Amino acid sequence: MKGVTVLENYFSSIEPHGGVLVNLELDGKAREDKLAVARHMKSLTISAWSISDLELIGIGGFSPLIGFMGQEDYLRVVNEMRLANGLVWSIPITLPVTKEEADLFEIGEEIALKGEDGIIYGTLKLEEKYTYDKELEAKMVYGTTDEAHPGVKKVYEKGEVYLAGPITLLNRPNHAPFEEFYKDPSETRAMFAELGWKTVVGFQTRNPVHRAHEYIQKCALEIVDGLLLNPLVGETKSDDIPAHIRMESYQVLIDNYYPKDRVRLVIYPAAMRYAGPREAILHALVRKNYGCTHFIVGRDHAGVGNYYGTYDAQKIFDNFTKEEIGIEILKFEHSFYCTKCGNMGTTKTCPHDKKYHVHLSGTKVREMLRNGIKPPAEFSRPEVAEVLIRGMRETN
Ligand code: ADX
Repeated sequence: MKGVTVLENYFSSIEPHGGVLVNLELDGKAREDKLAVARHMKSLTISAWSISDLELIGIGGFSPLIGFMGQEDYLRVVNEMRLANGLVWSIPITLPVTKEEADLFEIGEEIALKGEDGIIYGTLKLEEKYTYDKELEAKMVYGTTDEAHPGVKKVYEKGEVYLAGPITLLNRPNHAPFEEFYKDPSETRAMFAELGWKTVVGFQTRNPVHRAHEYIQKCALEIVDGLLLNPLVGETKSDDIPAHIRMESYQVLIDNYYPKDRVRLVIYPAAMRYAGPREAILHALVRKNYGCTHFIVGRDHAGVGNYYGTYDAQKIFDNFTKEEIGIEILKFEHSFYCTKCGNMGTTKTCPHDKKYHVHLSGTKVREMLRNGIKPPAEFSRPEVAEVLIRGMRETN
């Protein structure tokens, strides 16, 4: 086991959350040996979502976590947005199983964690099994108990027991067809150092980049050295645009409109929670672990439907000191194209009436694309719209 990487050994000017970049991945002989043992352990088949959590713990994206959360961490995270040791953490990272599955394992034993494909992705040293209050988790983490909320729906669907304990990572999931865009946090840190970027803004997205996204990214690029365009490619809800289409759209956008030496496209292999404000904190902390010094939070970050106020995901950071978060949050107002200004702006920079602002809802845009209609150039770059229309046609 490589153990936990010490601070001196990695690049970039920003400390990971909690001070150490965790690395629980085994390689070489240690991995072979562990896999040989793991083949004889009792095994548990886990979901793609749990595999992505396992991977992010293992590669240090979720530093300082070294395993699936035990009850003390879990309850404090749910109730106070802190780990048991007081460090800020906003979303529980847990391994749900059914009661029947939980009964198969004894405390103290090591379990092989398998995917549906039979691959052993890692191991869990079982320290705790505990039941939890789904309604409390829904209310506190997602701000609602409404099952129509995609994150809450997941909470109600999952098993009623959490297994907890430290993990090892033995195989990373396959990220095809995005392998060339995959980097772990130690690699992005090394990349930033090589590029000479001292300040880097991270951008979370689960949508094709439209003009408003481009505008806030470029505003940020005016004040930092580089942009990490870091789209989430793990599980999303079914009406979000599939990741492979989005990835193509990001590439044409960068090719046509971005200074190539100042932007890097790297996937964020996590599942989307749609937890709005709470997820904005998680997104920021994870990007800090990847070596970003700045993080963009715009309108209704990680939101869905009307569950969150437009700027709730910005306001939630007021509960913590800057030092506790440790990454600079760049907050942007709702931005739009103003036909009278002839450029992008927000109410901070544009004096004109709403009637001059180009607004389109995500639903409306998806409908246009599905019907082969390009959204206006004020909303979406034509090259991006073309990729999306073609992509939607192929997937329908
Ligand atoms: S998210 O679920 O990943 O947040 P999305 O990909 O739409 O969804 O948003 C990525 C980032 O851009 C988030 O920080 C979001 O707040 C911001 N954003 C999206 N649209 C706008 C807009 N019109 N004005 C300002 N910020 C925006």
